[in-house]
Amino acid sequence: MKIGRVTLSDRASAGIYEDLSGPEIERVVRELLDPDAVFLARLLPDDRTQVETMLVDLADGEQCPLILTTGGTGPCPRDITPEATRAVIEKELPGFGEAMRAGSFRTVPTAILSRATAGVRGRTLVINLPGNPKAIRECLQPVTEAIRECLKHLQEQ
Ligand code: MTE
Repeated sequence: MKIGRVTLSDRASAGIYEDLSGPEIERVVRELLDPDAVFLARLLPDDRTQVETMLVDLADGEQCPLILTTGGTGPCPRDITPEATRAVIEKELPGFGEAMRAGSFRTVPTAILSRATAGVRGRTLVINLPGNPKAIRECLQPVTEAIRECLKHLQEQ
């Protein structure tokens, strides 16, 4: 499966620090979802227009069945990933964000600071993940079965 993975970070995109969460997405997805996944990797600053354009390109241009973003889901003024995601999806799937927050809350009480959401554009499922590399596994684990089922539905339509 072709998967778009998009890291949203002003500092990582400026080279101030290394993008660790993007490569972590590849490790965790290969382990939990698809060992043969092929990733299209993107790294962008927290700029709403650039994020929306990139999501549309990966969905409509590259026809990725799945796009995973990391970062930009928090409460700060520059955190715009959920807004950019909502602007390009046709149907929101709020259960993904709810399950990720609920799944982490007991062990990571700050999990509720993430406003991550998910949704569908055409046949593409877009899911936001927080920016902390540790959060990638913590958030993907509880929703893996739902991702698999959703992708099946989208392929059948
Ligand atoms: N969820 C998990 N599972 N693990 C984490 O470390 N970090 C939280 C939250 N969700 C975290 C998490 C914190 S501290 C913040 S501020 C928000 O995600 C938003 O992070 P982001 O802006 O990098 O996306």
